[in-house]
Amino acid sequence: MDKKRVFSGIQATGSLHLGNYLGAIKNWVKMQEQFDNYFCVVDLHTITVPQDPEVLRNNIREVAGLLFAAGLNEKSSVVFIQSHVRAHAELAWLLNCITPMGWLHRMTQFKDKSEKQKEDVSVGLFDYPVLQAADILLYDTHFVPVGEDQKQHVELSRDIAQRFNYRYGDVFVLPDAMIPPVGGRVMGLANPEKKMSKSEDNKNDAIFLLDSPDQIRSKLKRGTTDSMRDIKFDETRPGIYNLLTIYQLLTGKERSEIEEHFSGKSYKDLKEQLAEVVIESLRPLQERYRELTGEEGYLDEMLSIGAEKADARAEEKLRQVYKKIGLR
Ligand code: TYM
Repeated sequence: MDKKRVFSGIQATGSLHLGNYLGAIKNWVKMQEQFDNYFCVVDLHTITVPQDPEVLRNNIREVAGLLFAAGLNEKSSVVFIQSHVRAHAELAWLLNCITPMGWLHRMTQFKDKSEKQKEDVSVGLFDYPVLQAADILLYDTHFVPVGEDQKQHVELSRDIAQRFNYRYGDVFVLPDAMIPPVGGRVMGLANPEKKMSKSEDNKNDAIFLLDSPDQIRSKLKRGTTDSMRDIKFDETRPGIYNLLTIYQLLTGKERSEIEEHFSGKSYKDLKEQLAEVVIESLRPLQERYRELTGEEGYLDEMLSIGAEKADARAEEKLRQVYKKIGLR
């Protein structure tokens, strides 16, 4: 039986963090044998906010390298860079012409991001979700494994697909978001009321996948907790809840087992033990990253294989779309 198709994307804005890993990448790796997968470094999305060209070039490679280091392999997953496959930008334009502005005005991520930038907001940032819909719809995607913050964008992709199909006939598969029951929203260490993110000003808020053991220990040590004492999965105490959730995701232990383990222990114990768990979980990924980036030409070779496969599939879909619209 044919495997269902999975597509997901990740931006190339600086180092990836534990939220990206636990909310998305770790699950991509875990499920890769089960599905037919496409994973994309979405560099065209990344330039919707200003980027320095040299920094961007390096970030794109770093993110791609981290995806392979985390365990994606070219046999089970097509890993590629968005701008290497022209169909993404082309389909985004075609979808722009059927997407109502009102739908984009409702996107909460645009509201958040544009508030921070005020007058400098680009048309691209507003149009961001349509490019994301193009990414997903080009590959006849059934499932989109993402963190909770992307749910609204995936739903919009589905709405756009439905509108297109209604107008021109069945062309697009309707995608569904796949959000992990635990880990879909990893919170910041310094500010556990907000999700962990790359752009947070406080650099102690996020653990990056390439952080050294000392950086990891120091960030966790400073992590915000509360004035209580017992160590329990209590959602009303966001700091402790978040630390325990990260511990749960990385050890795979049951919540009751974890609570029992930390019963009578201090917050300091929890932070120290969690630091070691994080360090050990990231160690193999960091080692593989160093290996594969040290091997001259390896990453380029992998990415060109990915781009070729993705391009073939995407071009075919794009041809169908042009035809339906009456352009060919
Ligand atoms: P991006 O680059 O912000 O994040 C990549 C993935 O990491 C997840 N994530 C989190 N999960 C849990 N807790 C967190 N604190 C956390 N922070 C980030 C995100 O939900 C995401 O799954 N718009 C997308 C990129 C994109 C895309 C796509 C995704 C472009 N085209 C098509 C899916 C399908 C984004 O900015 O992700």
